[in-house]
Parts: sequence; C-alpha cells; structure tokens
Amino acid sequence: MRFYQLLPAIALLGCSEASEPLHSKEKPNIMFIILDDLDYHMTDLGSVMPSVKKHIIDQGTTFPNHYCQVSLCCPARASILTGQTAHNHNVTDVHYPSGGYQKFYEQGFNENYLPVWLQEAGYGTYYVGKLLNDISTQNYNNPYVNGWDGIDVLLDPFAYDFWSPAFAMNKDPWQRYSNNYTTDLVSLKSMGFLEDALADDKPFFLGVAPIAPHSEVLVNTTSLTATFSAPKPAARHIGKLAGAQVPRTDNFNPDKPSGASWVKTLDQLNDTEVQQGDEWYQARLESLLAVDEMVESLFAKLEESGRLDNTYVIFTSDNGFHIGQHRLSPGKTCGYEEDINVPFIVRGPGITKGHTMDVVSGHIDLAPTILEMAGISQRDTFDGSPIPLTEEALKALTKPKTEHTSIEMWRSNNQSFLRTGKMEMMEEAAQNTYKSVRLISGEYNLYYSVWCTNEHELYDMKASLHLQSDSQQMNNLFEGGFGRSHENTDIVRLAHRLDALLYVLKSCRGDSCRYPWEALMPNETVNSLTDAMSPQYDELFETIPKVSFSSCQQDHIIEAEGPQFETWTVEGSKTTREISRGWDPVQAWMT
Ligand SMILES: *[C@@H]1O[C@H](CO)[C@@H](O)[C@H](O)[C@H]1NC(C)=O
Ligand SMILES: *[C@@H]1O[C@H](CO)[C@@H](O)[C@H](O)[C@H]1NC(C)=O
Ligand SMILES: *[C@@H]1O[C@H](CO)[C@@H](O)[C@H](O)[C@H]1NC(C)=O
Ligand SMILES: *[C@@H]1O[C@H](CO)[C@@H](O)[C@H](O)[C@H]1NC(C)=O
Ligand SMILES: *[C@@H]1O[C@H](CO)[C@@H](O)[C@H](O)[C@H]1NC(C)=O
Ligand SMILES: *[C@@H]1O[C@H](CO)[C@@H](O)[C@H](O)[C@H]1NC(C)=O
Repeated sequence: MRFYQLLPAIALLGCSEASEPLHSKEKPNIMFIILDDLDYHMTDLGSVMPSVKKHIIDQGTTFPNHYCQVSLCCPARASILTGQTAHNHNVTDVHYPSGGYQKFYEQGFNENYLPVWLQEAGYGTYYVGKLLNDISTQNYNNPYVNGWDGIDVLLDPFAYDFWSPAFAMNKDPWQRYSNNYTTDLVSLKSMGFLEDALADDKPFFLGVAPIAPHSEVLVNTTSLTATFSAPKPAARHIGKLAGAQVPRTDNFNPDKPSGASWVKTLDQLNDTEVQQGDEWYQARLESLLAVDEMVESLFAKLEESGRLDNTYVIFTSDNGFHIGQHRLSPGKTCGYEEDINVPFIVRGPGITKGHTMDVVSGHIDLAPTILEMAGISQRDTFDGSPIPLTEEALKALTKPKTEHTSIEMWRSNNQSFLRTGKMEMMEEAAQNTYKSVRLISGEYNLYYSVWCTNEHELYDMKASLHLQSDSQQMNNLFEGGFGRSHENTDIVRLAHRLDALLYVLKSCRGDSCRYPWEALMPNETVNSLTDAMSPQYDELFETIPKVSFSSCQQDHIIEAEGPQFETWTVEGSKTTREISRGWDPVQAWMT
C-alpha cells in the first residue's frame, strides 16, 4: 500500500502535522487526457460524460478561456508538445512538408519535447493513442517516436478507422486490430501502461489520446482516396443520445451570411444538411460515451492504487469543431469560437474543486504548465508560460501574463469541407490562411483577425464598446479594414491597438509572445489593452505598420506575411533581440 501518497491531500485540508513527513515532497503524477476535435461550445461535457463530470469537472478547476493556437490537429498537438507557437515550430498542417510527424522529427523535436524533458527529470512516461498526424505504418520505425517508456501509438492511414485501427507498441511491429473498437483498445492499452507506471516507484506522466469525437476517415489504400464521415460510437452506445441536436444558437445556419472571405459566401444549409449535421452531432456525443467509460476505469485504478491524490489530471482537446455555425458544414480550421476555444480542466493537488477561472490560456502554455507541476524549470524555447491554476497562484504572479492568445492558420480550404462525406474540392474557396488574436479581460471580449486576402474581422463579444453584445460573432465591426472610413472612431482606435498586438504576436518568440505590449512599447507601462487604449498613444498606434499579406500561402512563408515586427534568436540561455525587417519600436516612439 502506498498510504503516504495521500499525505499531500491531507496537507491541503489543513493537517499540517501530517504534511511534514518524508514523502510529502514526492513529485506528482500527471495524467493527460486529450480528445480529438472535441469542441467546448456545442457539447455540454458534464451532461454527456458523467464520469468526466464526477472525477474531473467536480473535483477540479475549469478554464473556459483556453484556446488552441491552430484549429487543426497536428499543429495544435505540436504546440502542446513543444510549448511553441506554430510560426516557431512550423508544423503548420497535417502532412509533410507542411506538417506531420516527419516535419516534427526533421526539426529535432523528437529529441527535444515534453516526454524527453519529463524523462530527464526522472518521470516514467507513457502514451496511448494519437500523438501527431502521419505517424504511419510506413514510417513509425524510422525513426521510432522518442521519449516514452511505453508508447502504443495510433498509425495512419488507419488512425481514424473506428473499427479497425492500427497501432505500434514500442518497437514491436505494427498491428491492425480488425473488428476492435478504437476507444476500447485505447482504454485497455492505457490501463496496461497505468499498471506499469504504478508498479514503478517513479512519478509518471501518462498521455491518453483516443480518436473520438474526430470524424471517421477510411482510406482506400489502392486508390489513395479518403472518405470522411461522422465518428462511430461503440455498438453498445448507438442510439443512446437519439434526438440530440446541435444547439440552435444565433450563429447556427443564420439567415444572413456572416464571417469573412469564403465563409461569407456560403449558402444557407438546407433541411437535409441541417439534419445531417444533427446526425453528425449525435454520433460525436455517442462516441464520447466510450471515452467516459475509459475515464471511469482509469480513475478506479488510480484510486485503488492510493496515488490519485498526488496525481494531476488534465482534460483537453487538440482543437474545436463546428457544425452549422456561420453556415459551415462539419469541420474545423476556422478562427471562430467553436473551432478555437477548447475544453481545459485540471484536477490534482492544491487545485480548487468545482471552480472556474477566467484566465486566458493557450496550448503553448501546456508544456510550461506540466513542467511546473513536475518541478522542472522552464525552457528558453517556450513561447507560453505556466497557467496559474489557482486564484492564489494568479495573485502571486509578479508579472501577470496578459489577456490574449494568438491563433494562426495556413492552408487552403480543400479538406475543411465535409459537405458530402467526401473530400470536396472548393477551388473558389481555396484560401484559409489568417492570423488572429483573442483578447478577454474584465473590460473586453474581442476577436480580431486579418486574412491572407487582407480582409479583416472584429467581433465585440461583450459589448465592450458597442451597444449590442455579439457573443455569436455575427456582426463584423471592421469590414474593409483600415482602407475604408468607419463611422465609429472608437472602433478604429481599438483596431489600431489590436492590429499592433497581432503585429507582434504573428512573429513573436518567447517573451514577446507572453508580453507583447512590453515588446511593442518597452519604455511604457502598458500591460493590457485598457492601458494601450489611453489617448496619449493614439498617434503611436497609427504609425505602426498594419498587419497584411502580400499573397496567400499554404505554408509559413515569411515573405508573404507583410511587415515583420522582429525576430528573436535564442543562444543557449541568452536571449538576444534583433530588429529585423520593418519597424523599430524605440525609433518609432522617438519620431
Ligand atoms: C516552414 O515550412 C515550409 C514547408 O516546408 C517552408 O517552405 C517554410 O520556409 C518554413 N518556414 C519557416 C519560417 O521556416
Ligand atoms: C481484435 O483484433 C485482434 C488483432 O487483429 C484480433 O485477433 C481479434 O480477433 C479482434 N477482436 C475481435 C472481436 O474481432
Ligand atoms: C478502392 O479503390 C479501388 C481502385 O479505385 C477500387 O477498385 C475499390 O473498389 C476501392 N475499395 C473500396 C472498399 O471502396
Ligand atoms: C441540399 O443541398 C445538397 C447539397 O449540399 C443537395 O445535394 C440537396 O439536393 C439539397 N436538398 C434539398 C432538399 O434541397
Ligand atoms: C485541392 O486539392 C486538390 C487535390 O489534392 C489539389 O489538386 C488542388 O491543388 C488543391 N487546391 C488548392 C487550392 O490547394
Ligand atoms: C527607451 O529606453 C531605452 C533604454 O533604457 C533608451 O535607450 C531610450 O532612449 C528610451 N526611449 C525613449 C523614447 O525614452
């Protein structure tokens, strides 16, 4: 029995006597549960997943303002595993050379990412399910995924085959499991690794990454075509949530078009399409039921081991998903709230139960947060920083991270349309490259984006300066961008600030990602949008070059991305700042 594992929890209840002994400094375990394409807006997690509610939501703290940096699996996961924005890790899509496993390892990340750092600090590391895209039956052993004491990884092209997935365990040959349900395999395999981890005295990190509620993708290996369809629930769950419907929010299949670029050109969905969307939604929810059962089993085992109280459990998703909002067919890759806002819930030693915190965080903050949990120092390569997980931790921050997170996308729209169940070619709607910033504070709740077509979007989601709150992102306040005159000068003043923030964030590195206002105005005490809104800065913000693109690219091609704020080079532990192209903040301030 590992009775001593309970001590840190007792300490929290105020039994300081009991907290002193020997093992109280033992490093915590971390269980990281990451779902695939699970949204935060359509799905009421607590009611669909009772075990997630019981063990994680009710026992932990929910962070409703958590965002992915790219609304696409592989770039999002690369940010989680490296702590870097996509413009720095440059894994910007799912396939090579823009992304995928090969892009990841070619840049040296296989030797330098989260599990490697945890192993170096004495952790046992385990992972089951989907890690990155394009780890395939062809390349899984060349090189093997590094950094795990035990890994059983889902392999393309069968990773999204709900009933016949392929896995490779450690250095064993890969195996296809015909007529086995994917989530049940992930559950079984996770339980196996959890037993291994518990049998060892080391603290452990266990990543659990089922494919649900991602679409099913069946690849014909002869014709090399892929067919997308709704996810498949386990046989025992089919029909359990019959009648489930996508919430009919104001942005659901609206009468007037919304958004920008190709989104604005979409036809309203017809009844058949709306019904297909609801079926898709029901399938997603039903596919989560097996995940919930897995969560129940994992918690039962942890509880039985006596080590649950010294275990952090993180529950999240790589990116969000939309069905019908802004007239969109099922998919992701957009900058709208449904696609970028993802579940993020944490329970564990010291975390307040049943609590909600408003801090804005992103996937680039996860590796920093996990290292902090494990008592490992932060890395110079990080663009994120540890998320304050309690109100006390938030108050104790000497330099609060501001209220923003940044979102990027580079790709054409080819695969984001699932209208007919087949990958559709939407040539006229091809460009889906944009950069945006999401900013939430006591006073503001805003989304600002610039597309590669130089279209702009600005949504005021809390009536920050507009009469009507637009939480559904239906009223673009900055159509036409800086190139046209706007009646409301407050909107223009705001847009100048948000554009400057995006100007820094779209090429930020390290501190300039964490403290962009400081990077922009090093001699001022501007730490928030509220500070920046001061009229004394009006002229300054007008002089800052505006975010723009010279062309639409499907890769991170800096030359196409307009004026660049600066580049930062990290040499060992010393950070040197170099002004590259474009604008020198100090110079501009003086003129
Ligand atoms: C990112 O990767 C793409 C595709 O390989 C490459 O063309 C581009 O130059 C890279 N961008 C940067 C900034 O390294
Ligand atoms: C699960 O997959 C294994 C490996 O392919 C196979 O031996 C087994 O029969 C499958 N289970 C069922 C129920 O078909
Ligand atoms: C796969 O593609 C080949 C070649 O186009 C075709 O003959 C075959 O019927 C397809 N298989 C399935 C299961 O659709
Ligand atoms: C609905 O739209 C689809 C195209 O996405 C079309 O094939 C179908 O015929 C339409 N159905 C009706 C009832 O108009
Ligand atoms: C869309 O995909 C097709 C097939 O892969 C490709 O030929 C085409 O160039 C793509 N379109 C764009 C704009 O990328
Ligand atoms: C800003 O601070 C730097 C470093 O202290 C100094 O060299 C520069 O003159 C200052 N600029 C202004 C406009 O005060």
